[in-house]
Amino acid sequence: MFNFFKKKKTSCSLFYHTDVHCHLLPGVDHGSPDLDTSMLLLNKQREMGINHIIATSHVTKSTFENTPDTLRPAHKLLCDAVAAEGMDMKIDLSAEYRIDEFSLAQLKDNRILPFPNNYILLENPFQQEIMGMDELMFDVQLKGLTPILAHPERYNYYGRKKDRYTKLHDAGVLFQINLLSFTGYFGSLAKDTAQWLLENDYIDFLGSDMHNIDHADIILDFLSSKEYRRLADRLSSRLMNDTAFNV
Ligand SMILES: [Fe+2]
Repeated sequence: MFNFFKKKKTSCSLFYHTDVHCHLLPGVDHGSPDLDTSMLLLNKQREMGINHIIATSHVTKSTFENTPDTLRPAHKLLCDAVAAEGMDMKIDLSAEYRIDEFSLAQLKDNRILPFPNNYILLENPFQQEIMGMDELMFDVQLKGLTPILAHPERYNYYGRKKDRYTKLHDAGVLFQINLLSFTGYFGSLAKDTAQWLLENDYIDFLGSDMHNIDHADIILDFLSSKEYRRLADRLSSRLMNDTAFNV
């Protein structure tokens, strides 16, 4: 039987064009394993309406001990492939710095890769906040860097104690929330907290935190939801993704 009433799925785009958090460099962390996958993921980014990404591979003690020297060749490989394909995609090189001894040593030695305009993406440990977090955020700013906290909604110890969001944000720490969190991908506390951060105007950046094709497809589905429309309406005038990096 014909189903004339079956709703045709329309593909929707993001309301911004810069992704500030993704793991698309080939072979440097547990994101894209190789160049072919990186190109597939970049095509998904184009489908979402993204034409500028900041590559934020993990820098973490023991697991992904990346440095500028390990990340630069992967960045060049991907940029060359993008140029060869004629793809409309700018790729800036930075990283997602887990707050641990390994990253802090690089920060101390000025061996980091900041975003354009000296923003830096920092990731908290998932078990607990480090001792001296407020002092560290102050020191980072004294170095002329603006800290962006990666996915604050995913740290359950903050989600259960929301006054920390207020304190950190008031102290100049910007917040990048994952689109995936709004879908429930990281559980109900992260989803509720993302919503709370949205309603309290604490969202400065959105990011895909894309590691693989599944992440891309979940986000693409989310873009045709009512929840995404509400999110876009709320953030369209305040989100910094497209405005922070105009050098
Ligand atoms: Fe990440």
